Amino acid sequence: MSFKKISLTLLAAGAAVVGSAADLKVSGGLHPSADAPVIAKEMYGQFTEHLGNCIYGGIWVGEDSKIPNTSGYRNDVIEAIRELKVPVMRWPGGCFADEYHWMDGIGPRSERPRMVNTNWGGTVEDNSFGTHEFLNLCELVGVEPYISGNVGSGSVEEIQKWIEYMTASDGPMALLRKKNGREKPWKVKYFGVGNETWGCGGNMTAEYYSDIYRRYQTYCKNYSGNTLYKIASGGNAADYHWTEVCMKNAASMMDGISFHYYYVDDWNDKGSATNFSDENYYMTMGHVYDINEAIKGHSAVMDKYDPKRRVGLMIDEWGTWWNVEPGTNPGHLFQQNTMRDALVAAVSLNIFHNHAARVKMANIAQFANVLQAMLLTKEGQMVKTPTFYVFKMYIPHMEARLVPLDIDCEVLEIHGRKAPLVSATASQKDGVTTVSLANISLDKAADIDLDLGGIAASKVKGEIISSKNIHDYNDFGLAEKVNIVPFNGAKIKNGKLSLKLPARSIVTLSLN
Ligand code: AHR
Repeated sequence: MSFKKISLTLLAAGAAVVGSAADLKVSGGLHPSADAPVIAKEMYGQFTEHLGNCIYGGIWVGEDSKIPNTSGYRNDVIEAIRELKVPVMRWPGGCFADEYHWMDGIGPRSERPRMVNTNWGGTVEDNSFGTHEFLNLCELVGVEPYISGNVGSGSVEEIQKWIEYMTASDGPMALLRKKNGREKPWKVKYFGVGNETWGCGGNMTAEYYSDIYRRYQTYCKNYSGNTLYKIASGGNAADYHWTEVCMKNAASMMDGISFHYYYVDDWNDKGSATNFSDENYYMTMGHVYDINEAIKGHSAVMDKYDPKRRVGLMIDEWGTWWNVEPGTNPGHLFQQNTMRDALVAAVSLNIFHNHAARVKMANIAQFANVLQAMLLTKEGQMVKTPTFYVFKMYIPHMEARLVPLDIDCEVLEIHGRKAPLVSATASQKDGVTTVSLANISLDKAADIDLDLGGIAASKVKGEIISSKNIHDYNDFGLAEKVNIVPFNGAKIKNGKLSLKLPARSIVTLSLN
């Protein structure tokens, strides 16, 4: 997506955003091209860490729970995973991964040792959800597993044996697995060699880690027809030096390098998830557009060492990170999720699509009950968040060919950040063109006219996510305030798509 003309609306510090009654005027066009990249379905991946109630309570309740479950996994959550067609899940962390010793999580559950989850509230982890529980879940719901290996406090031997345990059909580790009840090896594609090794994963320098990476990855072997896709631990946010060093020293030994990005302005006070000003809101939306610059920065470095774009940039943690909900454990990172989070998700995904040639995966943090979650659970109840509905509405973009587009709209400038008020993406699959548009303005509808660039479509069907108030969220025991409803306000005439997009809304249109 390119923005041809920029008109700036300047927002004075501290001022509320007061819109004029006039609608935004938005124009642009689609430029279908057979050379455009396909949007990897793994861009819709989820991160599931042993943190707060993401795993325990959020996914796993155990076979003896009163909460309806299948082999210990919540039935409502299994259904939700299927509803989203979740392509990949990253586990067991995050920071947790670098303290996780996989052998503690196999064998009879009653005999598994306990550990303290030092990163996340000092909670005692009983290891009842381990390798079998995770990989069986992936198999049950048809999700590709992404295992994050322990480099920070784990040995090369430990990693080698874990891979053998999961994927070999014969040998000592396979025998141990069989003894623990699993005859056939699992298929495991994605394997992360460390997590945030610049921080909680070992506080390493780029130079040191790139050597460590070379060593550890040597023992990440392919057993019994399984082929690993090896992912190096990337630098923090816009640390291009880290990418440079890792690519220079180890590009030929990796398939991907990770990149984490959270939309946080002040780590000491991240702000409330539900109670925020218009100014906070627009600052966040401006921050979302900053990820585009960071992706461009990392991609430019990667292009130097990997011009054919074989190595993927894996955004394996991203999303909003607010203060925890009052009264909840500060180490469990439980936050609500409003229409603001939905717009953050839509604009982020629109940006990721544009980088489909380099970005091969993105895992939002985190799937349940932590940070920008899809689902919130409270004992037997489950809530689908506004972000869940964006992921659901965007399913048609998975594995579809990107249709480049340009868009000409007003850009809000706030404290040095720029936020185009309308964000768009388009893709094509099986003869259907899907166009998604997000209007982030709090008060102005957008009159949109897009040239279809020769796409021969005559029918358009749509769905919309919007809310009366940007602070709206879905809560336990109450009717949903934010979900997907049909949208009939778009039409196609003379090769042009036109619609009026309400303020604070996201629409997805199917054209054929
Ligand atoms: O998602 C929470 C934490 O954020 C992860 O454990 C870590 O990798 C990142 O710093």
